[in-house]
Amino acid sequence: MQEVQLHDLTFVPYIPEERILATIRELAAAIDRDYADDPPLVLAILNGAFVFAADLMRSCAQEYEIAFTRVASYSGTASTGAVEIVVPLRENVSGRRILVVEDIVDSGRTLHFLESYLHDLGATQVDIAALFVKPDAVQFELPITYRGFDIPNDFVVGYGMDYNGLGRGLTGLWTLKKEA
Ligand code: IMP
Ligand code: MG
Repeated sequence: MQEVQLHDLTFVPYIPEERILATIRELAAAIDRDYADDPPLVLAILNGAFVFAADLMRSCAQEYEIAFTRVASYSGTASTGAVEIVVPLRENVSGRRILVVEDIVDSGRTLHFLESYLHDLGATQVDIAALFVKPDAVQFELPITYRGFDIPNDFVVGYGMDYNGLGRGLTGLWTLKKEA
C-alpha cells in the first residue's frame, strides 16, 4: 500500500482528493444559497485552513471577501487549554456576518474561543464551515453550519494539515498507520 513517512510517523491514504473536492462543491453551493442576499466576511484560520479556504472560495459562484487570522492553542495540561490570537484580524467585523473556515475540529476549543472573540468585536452572526470534524473528540457546542466529513478520533495529515510542520501539501487526507 502507498504510504508516506513524515518525521517518525507513517501515514496511509484515507480520503482521496476527488471525494474532498466533491464535498466542497456541495458546501459551496449551500453557502452561495444561504448568503445570496447578505454575503459574509469569510475568515480562514491559519495555517491549516489555507487549502480548504482556497478550494472553497473557488467552488463558490459568488465573490466573497476573505480575511485570515492565526490562532494557537496551548494545552499544556489537557483540562486548561488556552487559546491565543497570533495574527490579529485587521478587518472590521463589527456589524458583519462572519463565516469561519476551519480545516478540522478536534476538541472545538479553538473555534469556541474564536466565536466569542468575534461576537465581542461586534459580529452580528458567526457561522462555521469545517471540512473535517472528529465527533468523539468535540467538547464544545459550536455553530457548524457547513460540515464536510465526520472522521474517527485519529491523527490525520494532508490537505493543509501537518505533523510537526510537514504534510500540508499532500493531496487528499492521510491517516496514521496502525501497526499490525
Ligand atoms: P481544537 O481546538 O482542539 O478543535 O483543535 C483544532 C486545531 O488542531 C485544528 O485547527 C488543527 O490545526 C489541529 N488539529 C486537530 N486535529 C488534527 C489532526 O488530526 N491533524 C492535524 N492537525 C489537527
Ligand atoms: Mg487549524
